[in-house]
Amino acid sequence: MNKDTIFSAPIEKIGDFTFDEAVADVFPDMIQRSVPGYSNIITAIGMLAQRFVQPNSYVYDLGCSRGAATLSARRNIKQPNVKLIAVDNSPAMVERCQRHIDAYHGESAVEVVCDDIRNIKIENASMVILNFTLQFLPPADRTLLLQNIYHGLNHGGVLVLSEKFRFDDPSINELQIDLHHEFKRANGYSELEVSQKRTALENVMRTDSIPQHTVRLREVGFAHVELWFQCFNFGSMIAIKQ
Ligand SMILES: C[S@@+](CC[C@H](N)C(=O)[O-])C[C@H]1O[C@@H](n2cnc3c(N)ncnc32)[C@H](O)[C@@H]1O
Repeated sequence: MNKDTIFSAPIEKIGDFTFDEAVADVFPDMIQRSVPGYSNIITAIGMLAQRFVQPNSYVYDLGCSRGAATLSARRNIKQPNVKLIAVDNSPAMVERCQRHIDAYHGESAVEVVCDDIRNIKIENASMVILNFTLQFLPPADRTLLLQNIYHGLNHGGVLVLSEKFRFDDPSINELQIDLHHEFKRANGYSELEVSQKRTALENVMRTDSIPQHTVRLREVGFAHVELWFQCFNFGSMIAIKQ
C-alpha cells in the first residue's frame, strides 16, 4: 500500500483538494489513517448487503473511489442476478477501481462507471451506498440526489450514508475536531499534514449535522432513519424505504 505523504512538505499556496492521480495512488492508506472506523464501516456494508440485497436488483456505490465498499458488498451478496454499479467522476479512481474489481472473482456482475453521480439514474435498487461522498456535493444538490435515490430504491431497500459531521454545539464541535486530529497524529500524520489538508478541504467539503441528515432523509420519504455508527465526527447512517 502506497503511503500518503501528499501534505507532508510545506506547500506555499494550498489549492482545493481533488481526487487526482496522486490522491488515487495513496487513497487506501489515506482513508484508513484519516477516517476513524473506516474498516468497520466497510465490513458492515458487507453485512448490510447480505441482509438487504434482493434478487434481480441493482446495488449502487456512488463515489466508489477504488471500490472498497463495492467489493465488500459483492463478497456478501447471496442473491442471484444482482449487478453492482460503481460510480466515480475521478478517472484516476475509476481506473484503479476497475483493476481492483478485476483482481477478485465474484458471483455478481460489477459495472464501473466514470460519471458524476448526479447524472446517474437509480432504478430497481435494493441497496445504495454513499460512503463519504455526499459531503463533496454542493449543499444545494444534496436533496435532489437523495430524492433520486429514494425513488430508485425498491420497497425494503436501504441507503447507507457515511459522512463527516459537524455539531451545532461549538464546544462539542471543537472537541470532536480535536479528537479526530489526535487520531490522525496517532496514525503518523504530522501537525503540518493535518493543518495543510484541513485547508485544502475547506472549500470542497461542507459537512452537515446528524439532525440535518436525519430531517432531510425523512423529508425525501425514508420511513426508517438511524445512525448506526459514530466515532468522533465521523459516522454512518441507514435509511430504509418502506
Ligand atoms: C472520500 S471518497 C469515497 C470513498 C469510497 N466511497 C470508499 O468507501 O472507499 C469520495 C469519492 O467521491 C468522488 N466524488 C466526489 N464528488 C463526486 C461526484 N459529483 N460524482 C461522482 N463522484 C464524486 C470522488 O472522486 C472520490 O473518489
